[in-house]
Amino acid sequence: MKIISKIADLKAIISEQKKEGKTIGFVPTMGALHSGHISLVEQCRAENDVTVASIFVNPTQFNDKNDLKNYPRTPEKDYEMLRVAGCDIVFSPEVDEMYPEPDTRKFNFGTLETVMEGRFRPGHFNGVAQVVSKLFDMVDSHRAYFGEKDFQQVAVIKNMVEQLQSGVKIVVCPTVREESGLAKSSRNELLSPKERKKAALISKTLFESRTFASEMSVGALKDQVIRQINAESALEVEYFEIVDGNTLQAIYNWEDASYIVGCIAVFCGKVRLIDNITYKR
Ligand code: PAJ
Repeated sequence: MKIISKIADLKAIISEQKKEGKTIGFVPTMGALHSGHISLVEQCRAENDVTVASIFVNPTQFNDKNDLKNYPRTPEKDYEMLRVAGCDIVFSPEVDEMYPEPDTRKFNFGTLETVMEGRFRPGHFNGVAQVVSKLFDMVDSHRAYFGEKDFQQVAVIKNMVEQLQSGVKIVVCPTVREESGLAKSSRNELLSPKERKKAALISKTLFESRTFASEMSVGALKDQVIRQINAESALEVEYFEIVDGNTLQAIYNWEDASYIVGCIAVFCGKVRLIDNITYKR
């Protein structure tokens, strides 16, 4: 496995592989890897000749300086996990390499970015689009792999690919969970063992809610989920929205869309966790 930190070196090795007719798959990450990330790498390996992963904690997508400062960084462990997973190339640049000058580009994702994560983390998706568009240019892969755990991110990235007319195919991979049901996240490492146990109530409530969806109105189900999670004093729901899975706009009746997803953000102490569940597809 090659570990590369310079864009020129990355481009050189990728163009060599392409000349040999190889297909390239790309898994962008911010490191602090867990089995959720590795599942993306595995799917990428299965579908491409060459698997490229990036590790870059992108400052422009953090709207909270402390969150950026506290974001877990475990490069040596990450390299080892990627090596074991059979990754071919790791790109892990410094901030100056990615942003020699400030990136002043402003993307417009319309109503996709004014709801949920976009509403509570202003500027977040613009930063994600800045870094992912740069990475897509550099890696120039045939496919790129994203986790369904970050549901809104997938919608934004797909929209960005359409806007930029970049040829990369976006592949969406299912959410990997801890045994307790808690969605795997690098941020889980910031929870105390007690908090980690309590955070399992988030996915448990979402899964249970699916069994009631046919008997309850959208509004009543929404209220019940929020009430159940907030009843645990360690947890505080920031938002829970039931949305059209394509447009991400709130729906009010189960008949309003053919694809319906519930998206949630919850604070467990200072740590912000997100998850989602499909009600209808
Ligand atoms: P990061 O949070 O490191 O996630 C990298 C990729 O792993 C994302 O596509 C994310 O959805 C996926 N992922 C995370 N947890 C997962 C889980 N439990 N199951 C399945 N997939 C999971 O998302 C980012 O980084 C950044 O915003 C990035 C796209 C790299 C841009 O900086």
